[in-house]
Amino acid sequence: LRVAVLVSGSGSNLQVLIDAVQQKALPIDIVGVISNRKDAYAITRAKDAGIEVAVLSHVESGKRMGIKTFEAHANEQLVAWQPDLIVLAGFMRVLSGSFIDNAPAPMINLHPSLLPVYKGLDTHQRVLQAGDRHHGCSIHVVTAELDAGQVLSQAVLPIRHTDTPDSLQKRVQVLEHHLLPWTILQIAIGGVSLTPSEQASSILPA
Ligand code: GRF
Repeated sequence: LRVAVLVSGSGSNLQVLIDAVQQKALPIDIVGVISNRKDAYAITRAKDAGIEVAVLSHVESGKRMGIKTFEAHANEQLVAWQPDLIVLAGFMRVLSGSFIDNAPAPMINLHPSLLPVYKGLDTHQRVLQAGDRHHGCSIHVVTAELDAGQVLSQAVLPIRHTDTPDSLQKRVQVLEHHLLPWTILQIAIGGVSLTPSEQASSILPA
């Protein structure tokens, strides 16, 4: 399975994938990484692993690259890499419906909440404010509607009365580091299909 990864930040999830591939625990090729931030530590992680990186910085000398320009470059790059799967791992720019529809492979996203609750940002803060007892992360198919595509897998943790947004962020990230490689493994070995007609074959337990 040829996998392209889109990142914006530290890339700890990318690192987990790189490590799993190196340990032969994940039968994929990471064919390229796109970062929309030129200061993302994820870029260093990818380069250290010998993975091709495209930095499509959305802010260049104070000027913001329009989403259309960003998407045109990103699409061209993805088409060149010929991925079977595109993974958004901490990618923080919202993508347009036409980019998603024209992407050369299905796209999945890692989101720090138990979707369908808490789409969007500041999930750890919102879950605490609401007094929820559980929190976690989800991997879903990317569609034009933000964080609303088919949920493929989730990992759950109980919220402690001592939790803060920071502590939850750290604990959810540990879950992410297990859920992401596991879910990609399921896709790689055919345990889940991402073609639209078969999206019902989710790997969520019944
Ligand atoms: C993850 O916690 C993800 O849920 C959020 O951004 C973070 C990315 O972390 N959207 P990293 O860049 O993989 O370290």
